[in-house]
Amino acid sequence: MRRQLIARRTLLLAGAGCLVDIAAGIAPKQSADAFVTPGGLGREDPAARPSSELCWWQRASMYQIYPLSFQDSDGDGMGDLRGLISRLDHLSWLGIGAVWLSPVYPSPMADFGYDISDFTAVDPVFGDITTLDYLIEELHARGIRLMLDFVPNHTAASHPWFQESRSSRSNLKREWYVWVDPAPHGGPPNNWLSRFGGNAWEFDPPRGQYYYHSFLKEQPDLNWHNPAVRRAMADVLRFWLRRGVDGFRIDAAGVLVEDALLRDDPPNPKFRESMPPSERFKRVYTDSRPETLGYLAQLREVVDEYPDRVLLGEVDIAGARLADFYGRQQPCLHLPLNYGLRKAVWDDPTSLARIIEDYLERVPPHAWPCWASGCHDMSRLASRCGSLRARVAAMLLFTLPGTTIIYAGDEIGMADVAVATDEVRDVLERRLPGYGLNRDPYRAPLRWDSSANAGFTSGRPWLPIGGGAEHCNFESERRDPCSLLALYRRLIALKNTEPVLQSGYYEPAAAPGSVFAFYRHLGERKILIGLNLGDATQELAMRGQGTLVLTTHLDREASRLTGAVTLRPHEGIIVSATS
Ligand code: NOJ
Ligand code: MG
Repeated sequence: MRRQLIARRTLLLAGAGCLVDIAAGIAPKQSADAFVTPGGLGREDPAARPSSELCWWQRASMYQIYPLSFQDSDGDGMGDLRGLISRLDHLSWLGIGAVWLSPVYPSPMADFGYDISDFTAVDPVFGDITTLDYLIEELHARGIRLMLDFVPNHTAASHPWFQESRSSRSNLKREWYVWVDPAPHGGPPNNWLSRFGGNAWEFDPPRGQYYYHSFLKEQPDLNWHNPAVRRAMADVLRFWLRRGVDGFRIDAAGVLVEDALLRDDPPNPKFRESMPPSERFKRVYTDSRPETLGYLAQLREVVDEYPDRVLLGEVDIAGARLADFYGRQQPCLHLPLNYGLRKAVWDDPTSLARIIEDYLERVPPHAWPCWASGCHDMSRLASRCGSLRARVAAMLLFTLPGTTIIYAGDEIGMADVAVATDEVRDVLERRLPGYGLNRDPYRAPLRWDSSANAGFTSGRPWLPIGGGAEHCNFESERRDPCSLLALYRRLIALKNTEPVLQSGYYEPAAAPGSVFAFYRHLGERKILIGLNLGDATQELAMRGQGTLVLTTHLDREASRLTGAVTLRPHEGIIVSATS
């Protein structure tokens, strides 16, 4: 049997002064100390602390909003801050504790906001900075934190920094981007490839040099070897921290720095001609470089200048790198984002167990796990697991040890929306067509009600709404006490109040056939979670007796159980167990 896995981990790297929410609004107080949990993987934590001493980001369920697709208020077909603010009561009702907002900064929108031309302002498409301040205020008044997307790897080519940098080799900002002379016989300096297709180098006639871009040529990479760049980006963080932002999700956090010797990347042994050509080489000289980790740790220091803030990061958490991104010698990210469940085979409990337990084993003892349902870059949860399993998937997300992060729309079971070839917006699909890379289907507008355009806009939505919105929408699911939305709300409420789900450690449980089961333990208390991934009824044996706390079908709660529980097809259960 696999090792038992401790999920109750704490704060060596969480930083001193973990803070605790108070019922209404956000009124933080210091906890007793910054503590280090003895114990580790495979052992019960003898020093388990009450979950009231966890940091807010360990207890809060997080909610990613892709603002272009959340709610439009002005009829231009693109979501905006006023629209978002008009939906805040939905977030309170749902019970989420923090929002991660994808970029709202000024942008030419080549990559829909991830190409930023001013890091300290708001694009008119979304509103203005006063409206963003108001959003922060309104969220905080509801006890909800706000994390902004922070995109330190690159700017838009139209950013004044890049315009200055490219203007001449004597400009003060000449070293702010990655400029390199052509190879001795002409052409790009090495074989590095852009993730978005083609070479990662673009020749710029005014400078007579190439600049490096991990993504589009419209997104030149900043030169993080340059201390002036690091200082400027630290000041960007401070700008938002002073305005009351509670943290950041760092975009492309693992690729900040490239090899200073510009060595060629080696061939990717897993490459097949059916794969996008951008995967031809292994990105060993551009990804997860040691200097990148050091610079992320510096960003963490900046965030730690302000009490009670958090850093999430988009990184490649494969292999040993996960521990690196949490930080080994010094704190780095609080939560390297874990999208491991995207690879799950949802009718195979063994696949789930392997993904979950491999990940938990790699989370260092001092660090805190997290689980993200999906994001604007990947197929939606309901499309990956199938609508029949959307309920067990939801139950899994909120019962695993660690912070849960859901992608707005997953709570009503939104699936990927087909986009006609002539309506494709995503630049990735336009540049690398035919490899299934189009991200538009995951970014379709949210469905609020059964009116025209699902209540998202009075204009023409920037991406299609898709079919089925008359049933799959917030309003109708909010009215239905047995909807998927109702289940998400119950799960979030349970996680908000149940210490065992917040702090209990994870223990695999034996389960028949199509069932995936595990216990969470905290002190004398334990909770059994059983998820039937198949379409046949299953009997799950349990130690001792128990009481049904919640089922995915939202029925037979409070039933007493002895020795076993029957799971209907695609049913998940949460049982408070006694020996
Ligand atoms: C990751 C973001 O999530 C994605 O949407 C974007 O295209 C790239 N980073 C580039 O910023
Ligand atoms: Mg709008």
